[in-house]
This record gives sequence, structure tokens and C-alpha cells, in this order.
Amino acid sequence: MRVPAKLNLQLAVGPPRADGYHDLVTVFHAVSLFDEITARPAERDGVSVSGEGADRVPEDGDNLALRAVAALRAAAAADAGGVHITIAKRIPVAAGLAGGSADAAAALVACNELWGTGLGQPQLLEIAAQVGSDVAFAVLGGTAVGRGRGERLTPALAPATSYHWVLAFADGQLSTPAVYAALDRLRAAEAGGPAAESGGPAAKHGAAEQGSATRHGSAEPVLDAALMSALRSGDARQLGRALSNDLQPAALSLFPALRKTLAAGLELGALGALVSGSGPTCLFLAASADRALDLAASLSGAGVCRSVARATGPVPGAAVVPAVR
Ligand code: C5P
Repeated sequence: MRVPAKLNLQLAVGPPRADGYHDLVTVFHAVSLFDEITARPAERDGVSVSGEGADRVPEDGDNLALRAVAALRAAAAADAGGVHITIAKRIPVAAGLAGGSADAAAALVACNELWGTGLGQPQLLEIAAQVGSDVAFAVLGGTAVGRGRGERLTPALAPATSYHWVLAFADGQLSTPAVYAALDRLRAAEAGGPAAESGGPAAKHGAAEQGSATRHGSAEPVLDAALMSALRSGDARQLGRALSNDLQPAALSLFPALRKTLAAGLELGALGALVSGSGPTCLFLAASADRALDLAASLSGAGVCRSVARATGPVPGAAVVPAVR
């Protein structure tokens, strides 16, 4: 299986819910940075992980891919045998790119094939949603609006435009729950202090906070009409201006060096710059494949990140690839 990383072109976050999650409106976008997953029959379930950041991925029942295998077995394949999952990682771990969710999605689709369970996409999406908020999107791929925890998906109808992205990987990780908690603290401080009148902390970060729903103080997350219009018209410039992420101020508060990375990308001509999901990866939109190549080289030389990668999107979700012999 091959499964893509995701970006959030918009991530609007509501207040915390009773179950600890936050209601979201997000625009997911799958890009051509892939993990590769193999599923083979085995005596008992197991997982082995190699590649980018493999030492930070659990190889026990906590592994999201094994949790997806267990969820499929419980839902639809009670008498299925054991399976060994092999994951070759290229999506960095705890980087805001949903790499763990991607591996879970691939394991789910792989075992559905391996066991001949025969579940269709709607049923797979339901099981995926139980495993994690981003897993269903990794099954679907493309560009899609996510609501609820992010698991309720509507594919975005858009022309077949391919966008050129540059990803700047940071030297370090951010924990997703820690970033959501930092956002709750920032918002509580904003509501209680004078910053609320002046537009809140988000307003101070200038271009790095473009389009943030936080800036407008909205409690209910709302889909950004300008972003959707940019996607419908395939206009990269408009898309670059409309990128937004409510988690960005929280990620920047925990990882201040990312400000420099975002600023460097904009100075180097990116059409837009944003922290990816809960970070710390930063994403930049380029006007063309050539501009992405230039931007990647310049960012790499600027010393503002650990490494860079180029990717295009949208791409399909978890899919079987023919074995190369
Ligand atoms: O669903 P998943 O396990 O990927 O979420 C990881 C963590 O991110 C959750 O435990 C929660 O702290 C936070 N989260 C959230 N609201 C969401 C999605 C994730 O608060 N909609």
C-alpha cells in the first residue's frame, strides 16, 4: 500500500467539547509524500517500522496501524488470522502531517483486501473514524472538507489542478494534544485580557496568521468561502492568500523558531505559508514546479529548517501498489 501525508489548507477550531476533542472545519489536502505499508499473514499481529523517525513509532498495540487492524477485525472479520504490518516511513513522525493516521488507513485498506472482508468505502471510513480523527481522510485522499473531529468528510469538487508545495521539516516534534491545549490557553487569556479588544495575539503575527478564524474571534468554526472559491477556480495565488490555521499561534508559542521559517518562505516568494496541522512542519505554496524547486533550494540554504521536500497535491488516498519483483 502507498498512503499520502495530509495538509490542512484551512483548520478552523471551535472550543473544547465535553469529550476533550474540538469541533473543526478543515480542508484536508493529500500530497505526494508517501509511507509504504505491507500486510502479510502471520501467526499473531505485529508491526515493524523503518525509515524517517522510525525509532519514535511504537511497535506494540499502541501503534495506530495495529489499532486499525484490531478495529477491522472487531467490526467485520472476527475469525481473520494474524497479520504482520511493515511500515516504511517517509512522512516524518509527530510533524503535523498525519503520518500515523496514514499508516492506520493503509493497514485498514490492506487487511480489507488480504482477508477478503469486502467492505466498501463508506464502511471503511466509519471504522477509520474510530481509530483517529485524520484516518478517514487518509482512506479518501484528494481534497475534502472535514467536520466534527475532522472525520466527517465531504470531497471538495474542484478542477484537476495540481498544486506545488514545499514542506520544511523542523528539528523537533510537537504533540497534537499539547498544541490544542496551548490554543485553549491562548484563547482563555485573549478572552480575559486587553488583547481581546486589539484582535488578540493572532493579530500580532502579521502575515503568518493570514485568514485565521481566531483573529475574528469566532467560536463556531466556519468554512472559508475565499479558500473554496480559490480551489474551485484552481487559482494558486488566491489559494496562497486564503491558507489559514487556528492552531498556528499555539504551535508558534510552543516552537517559536517556526516564525523564522514561515517568514523566510514568504520572503523567498511563496504564495502562502502556514504551519501544517499541529506542526511543526511548515508548508509553502509555489506558483509552479520550477518555483517550488527554487524555493526548496533557497529554504534549504537559509538554515531555517532540518530539511525540505517538494510535493504535489491533491493525490489519491491509501491504495494498493503492484509489488515490484
Ligand atoms: O483523533 P486523534 O487521536 O488523532 O487526536 C489526537 C489528539 O488531538 C486528541 O487526543 C485531542 O487532544 C486532539 N484533537 C482535538 N480535536 C480534534 C482532533 C484532535 O482536540 N478535532
